[in-house]
Amino acid sequence: MAASPSNEIDALKSAIREHNHRYYVLDEPSITDSEYDRLFQRLQALEAQYPELKTPDSPTQRVGAAPLSAFAQVRHSVPMLSLDNAFAEDDFVAFDRRAHERLKSDAPLQYACEPKLDGIAVSLRYEHGVLVSAATRGDGTTGEDITVNVRTIPSVPLALMGKGWPAVLEVRGEVFMPKAGFEALNAKARQNGDKVFVNPRNAAAGSLRQLDSRITAQRPLDWYAYGLGSIEGGTLPDTHSEVMQALRGWGCPVNPEAVVANGLEDCHRYYQRMQERRAQLPYDIDGLVFKVNRFDLQERLGFVSRAPRWAIAWKFPAQEEMTRLLDVEFQVGRTGALTPVARLEPVFVGGVTISNATLHNMDEIGRLGLCCGDTVIVRRAGDVIPQVVSVVTERRPADARAIVLPAYCPVCGSPVERDPEQAVARCMGGLVCAAQQKEAIKHFAARRAMDIEGLGSKLVDQLVDAGLVRHLPDLYRLQLQDLAELDRMGEKSALNVLQAIEASKATTLPRFLFALGIREVGEATARALAHHFGSLEALLAADEQRLQAVPDVGPVVASHLLAFLNDERNRLIIKDLVDSGIHWPAIEVAASKPLDGKTLVLTGTLESMTRDEAKEQLQGLGAKVSGSVSAKTDLVIAGPGAGSKLAKAEALAVPVVDEKGLQDLLADPAAFLARL
Ligand code: IVH
Repeated sequence: MAASPSNEIDALKSAIREHNHRYYVLDEPSITDSEYDRLFQRLQALEAQYPELKTPDSPTQRVGAAPLSAFAQVRHSVPMLSLDNAFAEDDFVAFDRRAHERLKSDAPLQYACEPKLDGIAVSLRYEHGVLVSAATRGDGTTGEDITVNVRTIPSVPLALMGKGWPAVLEVRGEVFMPKAGFEALNAKARQNGDKVFVNPRNAAAGSLRQLDSRITAQRPLDWYAYGLGSIEGGTLPDTHSEVMQALRGWGCPVNPEAVVANGLEDCHRYYQRMQERRAQLPYDIDGLVFKVNRFDLQERLGFVSRAPRWAIAWKFPAQEEMTRLLDVEFQVGRTGALTPVARLEPVFVGGVTISNATLHNMDEIGRLGLCCGDTVIVRRAGDVIPQVVSVVTERRPADARAIVLPAYCPVCGSPVERDPEQAVARCMGGLVCAAQQKEAIKHFAARRAMDIEGLGSKLVDQLVDAGLVRHLPDLYRLQLQDLAELDRMGEKSALNVLQAIEASKATTLPRFLFALGIREVGEATARALAHHFGSLEALLAADEQRLQAVPDVGPVVASHLLAFLNDERNRLIIKDLVDSGIHWPAIEVAASKPLDGKTLVLTGTLESMTRDEAKEQLQGLGAKVSGSVSAKTDLVIAGPGAGSKLAKAEALAVPVVDEKGLQDLLADPAAFLARL
């Protein structure tokens, strides 16, 4: 018997919910994206056919509300509290002591410990398992109704899973934007000349406060549950950590970093461990929250004004601070690019004192509207290089100075040119410029390049400044005497450096190619070139077309390679290096494959195999499988349901075949290409 539409819809809804849960909460998807898409499309189709069967908790109903003119107010039946802060261990110890005093007990307290996410607090109300409203914290008593926006967040369950949830369940948590999503959003905004967000928190807040939920839907938002609001009709476990487990089972994501700690020591260890992990976490946290785990103890401890006595936020050092921009200097890099560097009044941020920050390029300075003398907000998140994120314009002094790109290189005095297509300005001095010489030598000596131990940044500066080394081959002519005479260099270390230089002569072709510092030729490209051509001679003889046949080499890389290799001075440097004894083991060139150099695009659905399987087989034959169609695409394989890619292929007159064609291609690539 065929399933009724209503049964099929129910089955699809619960399957999709289950897959969402596996994907967003458990991080363990059990089907491919395309299989998921098929279920989703089937549900959409059925709901279009039987609109009366469409319910608000359907996974298809995340977006679609018309823009609002304003947010409605929502009163929180249980207030949304804030937290007291501890800024140092002493504060935390005092908090723990006060709790013991109130509870009249000496036994170590058990704490539920969680990261304090830097996002926006929300309260989600589920009635009979269905999400009915979502609100911001507001002033703690009254917030704004942001239901339509919250529904667009993929990890927010529109209906709870499993069973055992109370009839009314308010889940509280933090909506945030992961760092990667934030970077991508800002990169796109920069490209389009739009306003960029200062930090992920602002981006999350701005995204949630959109009156048009279609905009929110495009923003990479996520959330973690961290507590409860009002509860009716049901019983819950006795501890915070168990409630979090229950929420997880009902489909709400809870932070996987959360732990239960016994007593102060344990909490302190967690603090230290998380402080070390902070930079690696995919989202910003500004501290940790410690909550007395048992609800009966929480109740006995109670509240003071707006914060509970049973919880505290132990903050990490701030990642943003205010300071003054004293000056901007321009550093010259290996390729001559001038990078403006901010000289700042030293300020303690993110756990260290910083006095410099990168400004990237002149466009960034323009975007920030930055002048020397300005008060600025600087940000240092973990290992990330300190950034100037914004200017406090109200504090601009009368004598603030505009920042201008120098017309001549501050190192060698050669003219500086600005590529109109790119944001970069470059010194045109090439290897005449001492800054570029130094950077080229540092790159050459680096561990992943020629790996010359002991030839670090300071020594290279000394060697170039003393006129002992200008070009790479000069390294191999250094004498013990030269080195030993340098400042802070004994005979013993001079000997070690010379030995390291000698040892570097035995290398590999990929390392050597990478070490030359050709623009856009990183390690992976160097490896691809070495394996494709097999020898330096073959590479030196290659023309543009042969270069572009190398996987990963496109027109840009090819043009940089040609410019470098066709420059007589570079040829002499390469010859000189080889003559000084640099050598490498021979490379076997990989046998050529039938689809080498071909770019294919797969679109629509396939019957006989998944897209991933097809992709793997095609790559095995040497093809590059790309996600988008361009004039360089050699062939598009389109199954049913193909959309914009197929249209684009037709517009560009790129050949298109169906699944049958794919099978012919896989069976006999050479014959197929001959027919194409
Ligand atoms: S518990 C009564 N847990 O921090 C306890 N809050 O400073 C209420 N926050 O408004 C909050 N991560 O937006 C709690 N794991 C976490 C949190 C967290 C972030 C935010 C929340 C709250 C603010 C209080």
